[in-house]
Amino acid sequence: MIHGYIYSSESKEPFDHESLTKLQEHSSRKNKEHRITGYLTFKQGIFIQYIEGPKSQLDQLIQNLKRDDRHTFINELYFEKPDRIFENWNMRYIDFDDLIEIGFHELLETAFFTINNSFFTKDESIEKINRMLEKIAEVMYKPN
Ligand SMILES: Cc1cc2nc3c(=O)[nH]c(=O)nc-3n(C[C@H](O)[C@H](O)[C@H](O)COP(=O)(O)O)c2cc1C
Repeated sequence: MIHGYIYSSESKEPFDHESLTKLQEHSSRKNKEHRITGYLTFKQGIFIQYIEGPKSQLDQLIQNLKRDDRHTFINELYFEKPDRIFENWNMRYIDFDDLIEIGFHELLETAFFTINNSFFTKDESIEKINRMLEKIAEVMYKPN
């Protein structure tokens, strides 16, 4: 059993192409060491990141992320997963505009508004998020 975690956060400093690339490269390298996989997307000051991996490593990363003052958390959801979804994405950066092109921005917006709101129970939120992750994997994920 592994664990998955998705959150949205608001950036506290401007991020451009260069700083996002740096962040992605750094994250990929670190995540590989800690057997974490997932993706990151960013639009208009909002990050949405999904990470998955063994509980202890995942919990450590979440702690680091929460201490990082380049952003503040808005929503989060933590859940168990039988398997990884993105086995070889140590930290894939997904351009939000690419998601718009394939119609996935709605999925992300659903995720964004689903987590921690009062309309859905936690189980319903987890189900929606998992459906979104499966769709992203179906279209974008190419295993090695
Ligand atoms: C939006 C965002 C996403 C991040 N994603 C990761 C990540 O996937 N993996 C990671 O190791 N650090 C990530 N970081 C950096 C961590 O918050 C933190 O700076 C880092 O883990 C500190 O450890 P280090 O100095 O040993 O790299 C991210 C930071 C931000 C702002």
